Amino acid sequence: MAITYELIKRCSKTGARAGRIHTPHGVFDTPIFMPVGTQATVKAMSPDELKAMGAGIILSNTYHLYLRPGHDLVAEAGGLHKFMQWDRAILTDSGGFQVFSLGPLRKITEDGVTFRSHIDGSKHFLSPEKATEVQMALGADIIMAFDECVPYPAEHEYARQSTERTTRWAERCRKAHTRKDQALFGIVQGGMYKDLRTMSARDLVSLDFPGYAIGGLSVGEPKPLMYEMLEHTVPLLPQNKPRYLMGVGTPDCLLEGVMYGIDMFDCVFPTRVARNGTVMTNKGRLVVKNAEFARDFRPIDPDCNCYTCRNFSRAYIRHLLKTEEIFGLRLTTTHNLHFLVNFMKEMRQSILDERFLEFREEFWAYYHK
Ligand code: GUN
Ligand code: ZN
Repeated sequence: MAITYELIKRCSKTGARAGRIHTPHGVFDTPIFMPVGTQATVKAMSPDELKAMGAGIILSNTYHLYLRPGHDLVAEAGGLHKFMQWDRAILTDSGGFQVFSLGPLRKITEDGVTFRSHIDGSKHFLSPEKATEVQMALGADIIMAFDECVPYPAEHEYARQSTERTTRWAERCRKAHTRKDQALFGIVQGGMYKDLRTMSARDLVSLDFPGYAIGGLSVGEPKPLMYEMLEHTVPLLPQNKPRYLMGVGTPDCLLEGVMYGIDMFDCVFPTRVARNGTVMTNKGRLVVKNAEFARDFRPIDPDCNCYTCRNFSRAYIRHLLKTEEIFGLRLTTTHNLHFLVNFMKEMRQSILDERFLEFREEFWAYYHK
């Protein structure tokens, strides 16, 4: 087994659980938020800084690394861990989601997807076998099956055909996957249709993957609909394996996801908005670039003990962002990632202490969007 999931504690009132995942590159506690490092770097952060804030696993992207610098080059460098000097765990997404985001630049058949590079327009083909080959060359600890993220909204008939194909693709990925030191996760699709989510989960579970992701959510649907899908889908997945909700990373969705029994999350949101001058706190978002902070000499979040909040004021960070100084992006990114890593830690502790619902109530009392 490349990875093992250890279930440590289940909340007696909700689906929430605290666990631990063992990988060839170390152990991390769940629930966890995975910072996104699309191009083999978490934008603006060094590996040492990520470690200092407690990140145990990061995510990278097959699609981007396949196009640039190429998976063969990464393999030649000794694999992704060595190439980017990150010795903790890595998960790579399969490229399915990124390719499907290209819109008119791609064409889907049973065999795979033909697409044009967003960089130079060159023509490429990704299939379950190719995506698996690329991910084996990159060498992440956890790799993802090649799937189609059903768009929102989608007709039932389209969602059914797409979801059935994703399951056939998952089986092909499993056949193509031969690295014993990597875990291949299946991805549940099904759009916003419970019958299709049931079918997808059942078929993937019968293929016996070491972990399961829930895809096709947070794609523009209202949040209550996403929660309904989670409440329906998570109980269909095995208790003794990790569950990963793809593309979710705002505090409210992380909290509700954990309540339904999700263990792993990733999202570009915290790092992307940080570079636009938006920071996260347990009271909601703060646009630190705004004029109201020009003479505000308090830290972003007085309760936060990240490097940024221990040393710098809102006024100073605003000044850096206004003058487009690179250090400003580093400070806001540091805070947002520290905030989410710490938020998950506190949530986990509340599960261990049997006070998850109290934690949730307190969160909602202070949080505004
Ligand atoms: N990232 C966010 N959603 C998805 C999804 O449905 N599939 C994949 N592969 N990645 C995602
Ligand atoms: Zn901070």
